[in-house]
Amino acid sequence: MKIAIGCDHGGLDHKNAIAEFLKEKGFEVLDHGIYEQKAIDYPIIAKKVALSVKNNEADLGVLVCGTGIGMSLAANKIKGIRAAVCSEHFSAKYTRLHNNSNILCLGGRVIGVGTALELVDLFVNTEFEGGRHQNRINLINEIENNNL
Ligand code: RB5
Repeated sequence: MKIAIGCDHGGLDHKNAIAEFLKEKGFEVLDHGIYEQKAIDYPIIAKKVALSVKNNEADLGVLVCGTGIGMSLAANKIKGIRAAVCSEHFSAKYTRLHNNSNILCLGGRVIGVGTALELVDLFVNTEFEGGRHQNRINLINEIENNNL
């Protein structure tokens, strides 16, 4: 399984720890940066990770900025992306089970690295439940396709 990851200057330590963690667990990692502690506008990185997921270069994505919110707003503008900001375990698990989210967004200034790794672990190891939840995803897609 391949995971695309990326961050802005609010999440570099978290992103690097996530890259190491995922590799240790046997995942392939596609690291879109940043690679040094230098300011960057988060939509640039969100777009790269989201397009990797959309184009099936990666199965799932993880984005880290200061709050996780900017990354999620930007990533969710790409068709087919369901990016969820999570800062606790229940949401990280259920956004896979019920929302079939394909990108996890984390706040590097909100949660510690230890929590971030646990949330990533849950996210990448939980499968979408399908069933009644698929119809809800279809309804989201319908909104997306209507270009409102
Ligand atoms: C950057 O200072 C900060 O605004 C960004 O990392 C993120 O928190 C935006 O949502």
